[in-house]
Amino acid sequence: MSRRKLAAGNWKMNGLRAHLDEARALAAAHPAPSVGVLLCPPATLLAPMAEALKGSAVALGGQDCHAAPKGAHTGDIAAAMLADAGASHVIVGHSERRADHGETDADVAAKVRAAWQVGLVAVVCLGETEAQRDAGETLGVIGAQLAGSLPDGATASNTVIAYEPVWAIGTGRTPDRDQIAEVHDFLRRAVPDAATMLLYGGSVNPANASDIFAIANVDGALVGGASLKADDFGQIIQALERA
Ligand code: PGA
Repeated sequence: MSRRKLAAGNWKMNGLRAHLDEARALAAAHPAPSVGVLLCPPATLLAPMAEALKGSAVALGGQDCHAAPKGAHTGDIAAAMLADAGASHVIVGHSERRADHGETDADVAAKVRAAWQVGLVAVVCLGETEAQRDAGETLGVIGAQLAGSLPDGATASNTVIAYEPVWAIGTGRTPDRDQIAEVHDFLRRAVPDAATMLLYGGSVNPANASDIFAIANVDGALVGGASLKADDFGQIIQALERA
């Protein structure tokens, strides 16, 4: 089965309006990519980035949404607001949200439902800590997170899964080939729709992207630090196009 591919950039809490130049440069350098390209800037940049990238091949996503459609939730952002600002996707359950904001699998599942309700594709993040890996618990942890974070009704059209080992995020360390393959093989069998795209995330950069994309069942990447520069992210996009 041939699945679609996706290079997704997560800017996290980085980027002022001046940084839109990087997004413009990325779009200009990749006018017709053969893979999906997604940028998830901070919420303040969604609307101006949508304007800057109008007519380009780069899709936009939020980094989180609230589970409720609207209401008294100071500081939070509803899925409908992301869609209204130009997003087609939203990252949910990133390990930084799980750690910094105590998000549980049930919280993540509720956010996924909220995203689907307004037609956003949910990019659902899963990943073990280093202690869990050392204890041999990786597949158990990933299986439990998947079961708890993914509501009934997940399809390849409304959901993308990102495997992001917590210990590989922002550290420059990546799992070896076999470790990534083991988790992605497991996820391929565990997702309800076998066509669901499975991204790897955690210290992906221009130097290691080709090796990672050569691993079976890796359909792309969720990229943090290396997505902030058009040139670096562009090289990752090209590596995925060649894979
Ligand atoms: P990183 O972040 O590429 O900076 O390691 C990945 C992520 O958290 O999505």
